Amino acid sequence: MKVNWPERIWVNSPLRLFVQRQETLFFKRMRAMEPGAHCLEIGCGRGAALGLIGRAFAPGRVDASDIDPAMVRLAASRKHTGLVPRVLCLVADAERLPYRDGCMDAVFNFGILHHLEDWRTGINEVARVLERGGVFYFEEIYPPLYANFLFRRLVAHPTENRFHGPEYRSALADAGLKLLPGFKENRFAILGVAVKEGR
Ligand SMILES: C[S@@+](CC[C@H](N)C(=O)[O-])C[C@H]1O[C@@H](n2cnc3c(N)ncnc32)[C@H](O)[C@@H]1O
Repeated sequence: MKVNWPERIWVNSPLRLFVQRQETLFFKRMRAMEPGAHCLEIGCGRGAALGLIGRAFAPGRVDASDIDPAMVRLAASRKHTGLVPRVLCLVADAERLPYRDGCMDAVFNFGILHHLEDWRTGINEVARVLERGGVFYFEEIYPPLYANFLFRRLVAHPTENRFHGPEYRSALADAGLKLLPGFKENRFAILGVAVKEGR
């Protein structure tokens, strides 16, 4: 589900960028990546994380995908040169990623799975496109944050089939994504790193 205008103001704000910067530094401390990796960001929004991923991980290529063509246009118009050698911005549904199995070294999710009607399919898609040993870096939020008395009037999200920490963590495990110790979680959100098992 696309973001509505109040949420668009938030995700396009300097404060959001500051939060994402701190989160990316946390991701790097949790699990570094070999330089030159091929990464995918699902629900990239305006693409603000591209530069952060570039600085932190020195990937060879980042594919930035979003279901909203207006967001993809914004992401494509950013200047990423020097930080990521190759950037591909594309319109894609995180429930049906247009990639073959096992082709990504890492996938980034900055708060988009709760926008999916079928979030478990989103997690399964992340696991499918990751190679064995590939890394899933994520920030995800729970209903007490986005569906509380105030925010459910302001922002638009699916209302059925929602998840909190236990369902989210068990869906990662069911998809073969092993959550690394050291993740941060409270009743509102989780920030963590999971690795596709089987290497
Ligand atoms: C809360 S915003 C987060 C944007 C950005 N990742 C950030 O952290 O600022 C959620 C993003 O997910 C995108 N989105 C929603 N449903 C999606 C889907 N099914 N597939 C891909 N992207 C989706 C929205 O268009 C929006 O850009």
